[in-house]
Amino acid sequence: MNLKTLWRTLVAGAALALVFSLDMGSAQAAGGDQKFNSVCAGCHSIGGGKRVGPDLKGVTDRRSEAWLLKFIKSSQAMINAGDPDAVKVFNEYNKTPMPDMAQFSDADIKDILEYIKGGGGGPAPAMAPATPADIKLGGELFQGIVRLKNGGAACNSCHHVTNDAVIGGGVLAKDLTEVFTRVGGTGVGAILGKPPFPVMEAAYKDAPITPEESRALVGFLQDVDKKRAMQTPKDYGNQLVLGGVGMFAVLMGLYSFAWRRRKPGPVNQAIFDRQVKSQ
Ligand code: HEC
Ligand code: HEC
Repeated sequence: MNLKTLWRTLVAGAALALVFSLDMGSAQAAGGDQKFNSVCAGCHSIGGGKRVGPDLKGVTDRRSEAWLLKFIKSSQAMINAGDPDAVKVFNEYNKTPMPDMAQFSDADIKDILEYIKGGGGGPAPAMAPATPADIKLGGELFQGIVRLKNGGAACNSCHHVTNDAVIGGGVLAKDLTEVFTRVGGTGVGAILGKPPFPVMEAAYKDAPITPEESRALVGFLQDVDKKRAMQTPKDYGNQLVLGGVGMFAVLMGLYSFAWRRRKPGPVNQAIFDRQVKSQ
């Protein structure tokens, strides 16, 4: 093989490789779309604002690829190692840990980053505002007064909200009173569509929440958040016991006062005595 043919082979090879990699590039971005929407979208938007985690629009400009690969695989390892940027976002998000994405290879994560760089699918369309009927239904679904259509567990078996219309809820998961402020309506909707938290995901895997139910629940949580300042706190602690004992003492006092002139014997004792005497 002379030098000229070697050169030609190399050029052709490089061109082929380039075409091939470009082609792979678009195929990868398509895969990134699916991975992002099934794993990340519950917590992150691309240009739709904060959810559980930061809006990822422009993150590929803010951070290096090496940093992103490391962070996405295990943000906690990076935070524990004291990486200043990782510690900073962690603190900004009230120390909410992002789950490790150990299931993804570098190539998978690069697919996802490619999708993020492309702007994702754009922000999700805004939901129609909830009607009073939606809010009422949402409250009933939250407490299990109305069953979820596909038989999923009522939210208050794990979550609590501070609202006078709701009798206490579970403490397994976060209080949702202010979740609307924290993650927004689209964020709550995304979480209900595909819960990014293992415990909650397991609860609805075979019992998905329908879009109508999601709309009602989002409306209810927005309402709870708006009215939170007007609600009585539900955590009475031992005030309830002390209050009970105190009220009992007060009532006993009132009863004895009201009955202070009561007759020492039975009411018909006088009649009985008279009867006995007349005989
Ligand atoms: C359960 C919620 C959750 C899921 C699922 C999740 N994240 Fe996160 N993510 C967070 C939170 C919260 C933060 C804020 C910082 C932290 O936790 O350390 C974050 C931070 C990030 C950051 C850093 C952003 C910045 O501005 O520096 C990137 C990048 C990121 N996530 C990418 C992803 C990708 C990609 C996926 C899907 C493979 C994903 N996340 C899935 C919650 C989540
Ligand atoms: C089996 C328990 C369980 C049930 C049932 C459940 N969740 Fe969750 N949910 C969780 C867990 C666990 C988390 C993760 C956050 C935490 O640890 O509290 C979570 C997180 C959330 C978040 C995000 C909270 C935040 O501040 O980031 C929202 C919103 C939410 N759930 C709404 C609901 C709604 C609405 C329902 C009813 C349809 C529901 N959940 C039912 C366990 C549950």
